[in-house]
Amino acid sequence: MALNHDVYIHNLFGNEDTALQTVKESIQKKGMPSISVQPEVGRFLSILVSIKKPRNVMEIGALGGYSGIMLAGALENEGSLTSLELEDSYAAVAKDNLTKAGLGDKVKYVIGPALQNMESLLSAGQQYDFFFIDADKVNYPNYLEMALKLAVPGAVIVADNTLQGDRVFDENVKEDNVEAIRTFNNMMANDDRIESIMLPLCDGLTVGRVKP
Ligand SMILES: C[S@@+](CC[C@H](N)C(=O)[O-])C[C@H]1O[C@@H](n2cnc3c(N)ncnc32)[C@H](O)[C@@H]1O
Repeated sequence: MALNHDVYIHNLFGNEDTALQTVKESIQKKGMPSISVQPEVGRFLSILVSIKKPRNVMEIGALGGYSGIMLAGALENEGSLTSLELEDSYAAVAKDNLTKAGLGDKVKYVIGPALQNMESLLSAGQQYDFFFIDADKVNYPNYLEMALKLAVPGAVIVADNTLQGDRVFDENVKEDNVEAIRTFNNMMANDDRIESIMLPLCDGLTVGRVKP
């Protein structure tokens, strides 16, 4: 691999503990896609949660529990993680991995299309102070709208893969996923309800704080 800032950062901060290695092994064993967050992104999530000290974290897209471990592992005693996942079998793997990591009592999985479940959680009066968006890219703008409804003032919203392999700023790319991420990033940059920034970490992270 040619040395560039990604490799340099990965070499310094890309190490994984046993719990995270277990997630990757279980994903491989079950034939699930290898699309967990990069270790550097996981580390960043963990640091953000440690600083913010949220009570109610919402994760959209659980897969095998990699980001779930980084989020739940950084929570204080009373904090909890609600993880939205389309696939029942993936959520079962994630739950097993968080349990092995000693975090089983910190997480609740909500199975099915995330948008629909966010609507139900909103109707039930649930609120969240930290969101991690990492599911189907076409729905990122919808997830952001729903997150803003479910958010308490000061809530943090983080979304992964917002550079889409640098295709977001290639005007020739018209794929639905990329167009949706462009819309999402524009919303994060320009919506008066949130102050945000984009970080070129791994495949891009857009991070915002809901204005009080
Ligand atoms: C990139 S993976 C999540 C990786 C995970 N955040 C991690 O780093 O460990 C995306 C996940 O979103 C889920 N997903 C896709 N569409 C969804 C939807 N409409 N509602 C809920 N989850 C969805 C997929 O099944 C997959 O597990």
